[in-house]
This record gives sequence, C-alpha cells and structure tokens, in this order.
Amino acid sequence: MKKKIIVTGGTGYIGSHTAVELIADGFEVVIIDNLYNSDISVLEGIRAITGVTPKFWQYDLCDIQKLEEVFVAEGRIDAIIHFAAYKAVGESVRKPLEYFRNNLVSLMNLLEMMERHNSPVMVFSSSCTVYGQPDTLPVTEASPVKEAASPYGYTKQAGEIIIRDTMAARPSQKAVSLRYFNPIGAHPTAFLGELPQGVPENLVPFITQTAMGLREELKVFGTDYDTPDGSCIRDYLHVVDLAKAHVTALQRMLEGQNKSNYEVFNLGMGKGVSVLEAIAAFEKATGVKLKYSVTDRRAGDIEKIWADPSLANRELGWKTEISIEEAMETAWRWENRLKNKE
Ligand code: WQD
Repeated sequence: MKKKIIVTGGTGYIGSHTAVELIADGFEVVIIDNLYNSDISVLEGIRAITGVTPKFWQYDLCDIQKLEEVFVAEGRIDAIIHFAAYKAVGESVRKPLEYFRNNLVSLMNLLEMMERHNSPVMVFSSSCTVYGQPDTLPVTEASPVKEAASPYGYTKQAGEIIIRDTMAARPSQKAVSLRYFNPIGAHPTAFLGELPQGVPENLVPFITQTAMGLREELKVFGTDYDTPDGSCIRDYLHVVDLAKAHVTALQRMLEGQNKSNYEVFNLGMGKGVSVLEAIAAFEKATGVKLKYSVTDRRAGDIEKIWADPSLANRELGWKTEISIEEAMETAWRWENRLKNKE
C-alpha cells in the first residue's frame, strides 16, 4: 500500500519539484493549492516527468471546512509536507496582516487536521530568513534566531515555534523544519521551473528574463557591502537537491530514525556566492553576456549568509550534488522553454 502524502503548495516552485521526487520514490501525492501564486499547468509538468498526475484540491488552507472535506475524502494521510505560504519579503512589508493570517492560520489548521485525523508527520518549509544577519558564518542550526527583518521572516519564525510547541504536546506525532537557503534552477527536463508572477523579486529569474530580453537589464542591489566584491553573498542550491532533502527528511520520520519528535535542518550548499559571482556563473554556463548595472541596496537585504549543512549531511545522509553553473544552465533552459510555449 503506497503511503499517501499531502503536499500543500504543490503547484509552486519547490512543492512541484518535491512532488516529482516523492512520486519517483513510490509515494502517492495529493496536492492542495489555491493557485494564488502558481498555475494549474504545473500539474502537466509533473505528469510529463513522472507519468502521474497527482490528485489536486484547489482549496484555501485557511478554510478549515474545506480542509476537513479533503481529509475525510482522502482517508489515511501518512504525512503532510507544508509549502503553501506567501513568500515575498517586500510584499510582506506592505501587507503584514495578510501574511500573518495566511501563513499562520493555514499552518494551525493543518496541525488541527493532524490531530483530528491522526496524520502523525509534518515537514515544514522554513527559511534561512529566520537567522537575520548572522554574527558568525557559516550558520548552524544552533545559531541564534534573530529579530526578523520582515513580516515574512516573522511568519517563518512563528511557524517553527507553533510546530515545536505543538509537537512537545503531542509525543506520538513528529515534525521537521527545513531551513532553505536560496533555491535556484529548474528541473533538468525543463518541464518544471520557477514561475514568478509579474516582475521577479528573486535574482535568478530576473537574470534569465534579462538574458531573454524580457527585462532591460539586471539591477545589482548594491556593491558597497563588506564582502570581497562588495555585492551580497548567499548560499544558492539547486531546487532538485532541495526537493530530495524533503524525501529523505520524510523517510527519516516514517522509519522512526528521528532523534526527537521535532528537528531542524539547514539545507544549503555550504558555500557563499556573491551576486556578481552568480552573474559570472550564469554567463559561463550559458555563454550569454548579461546586461546589468549597480544601483542602491534593497531594503531588507542582509549582507551575507551561507549554511553549515553538516547536520543534514550527517543525519539525513543528504548533500547538494548540483553546481551553481549547472543550476544556471537549467534555469536558462527553462526560460527558453517558457519562450517557446508562448
Ligand atoms: C538574492 C540576492 C539581492 C534581485 C529571498 C527570501 C528567502 C527565500 C529566497 C523564500 C540578494 C540580489 C536580487 C535583483 C539583486 N524566499 N538581487 N537584483 O532575498 O536572498 O531571499 O528569496 O523562502 O526567504 O528572503 O533572495 O533572490 O531576492 O536575492 O541584486 O533583481 O540577489 O540583493 O543579495 P533573498 P533574492
């Protein structure tokens, strides 16, 4: 009997790539997504890669009646992987209450369902944003969680605390928070990738859209930081590597390998790359010269962060396999597919 996994936000960027890896690993995937920031065509991408079209519920997780309907209809749910959330840092500053309501009510409703329907396992999509600007680098899971730089960051910090304390009160259930660094790239088949709505906030889709001629030029938000080349440093990892970490973290809990019923893991390459180095990696990988100019810093950006991924390497037996150049090449292939689909 296949284990059945609910993937919330499963038509999103990381959710869809994780759905593919779950199906490849023999799981049955059920997606709940309200398509606020994704497109139903993503289901076709998942089918093109795996041959399977996951069951899809177009519901809002904040509506607990709808959620109850799904759990009654689906019967036994072995685990929930919870991606669905609003995730734009800038937008969260403009709409804090929407972010707190959406990101936290949806989570609390799912935790309620776990209790009501005895669905004992959750994988939570968290973020390195919880660290703010670390005092020492690389960051480990023991590094202090600092004052969040945005309402979005607060929702991830609060989400972790809500899950931690709920699991402390439910010894028979278990959860893991996965703190992502910066996911980039697209599926090697180019059937799945990042689908930013409107003007991309994130660096790599802006790079590929600029290279495709959809944007005039990339603006580099500041080269006056205290870093070797003056531009911000991040830890970029390929989205398929990130997706695979979710499957190993899930298996760990399903097989009872977890050492406590709430664990936290950093998911990063463990290497800092600057904006200018990321641009150079794109140019090297694709042979496309990128047009960019340097502008002021972006409000809310931290200067530098990269992961110490040794806990995930050791405990999950997971590490990144795909280089930043390969990641950039997959992102460019995806941008070309999007253009050909027009
Ligand atoms: C990366 C670097 C920018 C665009 C955010 C969230 C994080 C996660 C990933 C959800 C920064 C620079 C960017 C541009 C630029 N999201 N940049 N010009 O801000 O590190 O992380 O997205 O989980 O939680 O905080 O990612 O891709 O926006 O920026 O110079 O047009 O690229 O200044 O240094 P970020 P990003």
